Amino acid sequence: TTNLIWAALLGYLIGSIPFGLLLTKAAGMGDVRQIGSGNIGATNVLRTGNKGLAAGTLVLDLLKGFAPVAVAGHLWGEVAMAFAAGAAVLGHCFPVWLGFKGGKGVATNAGVAFGLAWPLGLAYAFVWLSILAIFRISSLAGMAAVVAAAAAAPLFGYPQFFPVLGAIALLIIYLHRENIVRLAKGEEPRVGGSKDTAG
Ligand code: G3P
Repeated sequence: TTNLIWAALLGYLIGSIPFGLLLTKAAGMGDVRQIGSGNIGATNVLRTGNKGLAAGTLVLDLLKGFAPVAVAGHLWGEVAMAFAAGAAVLGHCFPVWLGFKGGKGVATNAGVAFGLAWPLGLAYAFVWLSILAIFRISSLAGMAAVVAAAAAAPLFGYPQFFPVLGAIALLIIYLHRENIVRLAKGEEPRVGGSKDTAG
């Protein structure tokens, strides 16, 4: 059980690094929490108009999900991977450094899915990119992807990862409750669209 505590600590500490906030501040763009939806994720970083910073946020947030899960897998095995996975998403969504007000977990959970098992990562990426290409709504694509990864776990032969991916999916959907209200009203902004502010 000591290993599981280490895995959870590792996941939380890496997951809680707020790359979206750090990159936009370092670039002198101010505080990303003051614009758009107020979120610290890549989608809201894109609303600064800086595509490079948004891409950097996406990649780094993805890696911070992947890395602790991969390390936990090498050192401690599958149960520790699940602990690191859940903790990384919790770290991103509830970072102690930002008074526990973090992001919505979509990019970090993509890295987590790839770290747990690459077919789950592919399912995540396929659904995410497909829905994004069709509707160009980041929140909708993200929510569909987290559900797809959880559903893919038992279907693709990884039932041991269903509990953590299912719990993460419920959390991520809950964190999107304001997005869901906007979606229902038809007011959710599209990525790259003319209406590029939210919240
Ligand atoms: O990952 C967050 C995304 O799903 C929604 O971001 O800024 O549109 O609330 P945002």
